[in-house]
Amino acid sequence: MERRAVPPQRLMATMLAVTAPSAATLIVLVGVTALSPLAALAAYGVIAATTAFLIHPHLGDLAAMTRWMRSLAQGVDAEPPRPRHERLVVDMIAAIAQLRRTWQSKQSELAKAARWHETLFDRLPDPLVLMADGRRVTRINEAARAAFGRDISGRDLAVVLRTPAVLEAADAVLGGAPGQEVEFTLPVPVERVFIARVERLGAGADGSTAILALHDITTVRRIEQMRADFVANASHELRTPLSTLLGFIETLKGAASDDAEARDRFLGIMHEQGTRMARLINDLLSLSRIELNEHSPPSDRVALAHIAERAIEAMQPLAAAKRMTLVARIDAATPTVPGQADELTQLVQNLLENAIKYGREGTPVEVTLRPAGRPLPTAAAHLTAGGAVAISVADQGEGIAREHLPRLTERFYRVDTARSRTLGGTGLGLAIVKHIVNRHRGALVIDSTMGRGSVFTVFLPAASGDET
Ligand SMILES: Nc1ncnc2c1ncn2[C@@H]1O[C@H](COP(=O)(O)OP(=O)(O)O)[C@@H](O)[C@H]1O
Ligand SMILES: [Mg+2]
Repeated sequence: MERRAVPPQRLMATMLAVTAPSAATLIVLVGVTALSPLAALAAYGVIAATTAFLIHPHLGDLAAMTRWMRSLAQGVDAEPPRPRHERLVVDMIAAIAQLRRTWQSKQSELAKAARWHETLFDRLPDPLVLMADGRRVTRINEAARAAFGRDISGRDLAVVLRTPAVLEAADAVLGGAPGQEVEFTLPVPVERVFIARVERLGAGADGSTAILALHDITTVRRIEQMRADFVANASHELRTPLSTLLGFIETLKGAASDDAEARDRFLGIMHEQGTRMARLINDLLSLSRIELNEHSPPSDRVALAHIAERAIEAMQPLAAAKRMTLVARIDAATPTVPGQADELTQLVQNLLENAIKYGREGTPVEVTLRPAGRPLPTAAAHLTAGGAVAISVADQGEGIAREHLPRLTERFYRVDTARSRTLGGTGLGLAIVKHIVNRHRGALVIDSTMGRGSVFTVFLPAASGDET
């Protein structure tokens, strides 16, 4: 039952106001002695009582409506009252109820939009930090939580970012300066490079007036560095034989032009340097061609036994020059692999060439081809499902120190640059091997013992329907 009680003061005040003209008339009548004061008082009593009786229900409707509007204003979603006497109040309640529905739907739209923005803020991949005066963090997104390892809401930004340049930029922007961008490096746990962008915001409900966005550019910087290094290395590798060539050409044109014996010797050196440049250019071209195709694995079926034999044949003269024997141990049960024959030949040749170059004179080099046994090494773990093939080249050279192993397949990386150059190496052989292996979705594993020798093993997926 809804409450319709009318406060007595309200009833009294309204009644007095409504009966004021009658009271004035009665006073006048008493004044001109047309009415005795007692009769006037009685008449006013009747008028007042009747008026109060008549206006009470209407005031009840108004009071109920007022109470309802007050509860709406306080956020209580009460049922609208049902006025019984006042038509005007009925219309007003209907209008207010309509207003309330519109307002509720607007409010739910706003709440939905706010939730959507919060989700968007949370899910954006870059770490984001909202800040209020004094660099107090008001909110951070999921990426920032992951980057900082904890929620730092309510604390100074400096608890996680101590780089002075970033803090200065945050202070400046919070103090009213326009947006700023700072590049900085976090040395731990692994060195990472970020761009921090601080922008001003209109004041948010929680007092936030600035946003800090971190963008990780470590990979971009690393690629830029690699490209710069690669260009510098390649130019350097080409410039050295080129300047030798130019130097001898000068000498041949001048001082040595009449010296037949010197001319022959110089031409020999020039040929060697020219060959070195050609080798380098060939390797660079191979590398770029293989890299270009790396995303599309080859689909021919290749028998590695045949490839190994061809590579051994091609390397025979090089081995003979160092009195080394090339031994093939081929397991006839080895399945074929999906592959590209020329690339796989180049792969085995590059490994053989290294084994001969870095192996001791007079020792054997072994090429082993077999179905890969289980368990496979971690690097080749992705191959377990469909069967795999292992081809390895083992030498009895001086071996490679452990710290060099992870970097051997980088372009131009050599353990001993001068020695590699003397032996005619370009520093690209293993980089080419690595890219061929990648294109074939295989894995390269290097085992080496100092003083004993090295084993380079390539794991390749077996052709489907041909697995062991
Ligand atoms: N079988 C091996 N034994 C010892 N060191 C090796 C062997 N294979 C490669 N290396 C080392 O790895 C480096 C890179 O090899 P590679 O990319 O083929 O370049 P290159 O042979 O032209 O120097 C070599 O310079 C050498 O220091
Ligand atoms: Mg090599």
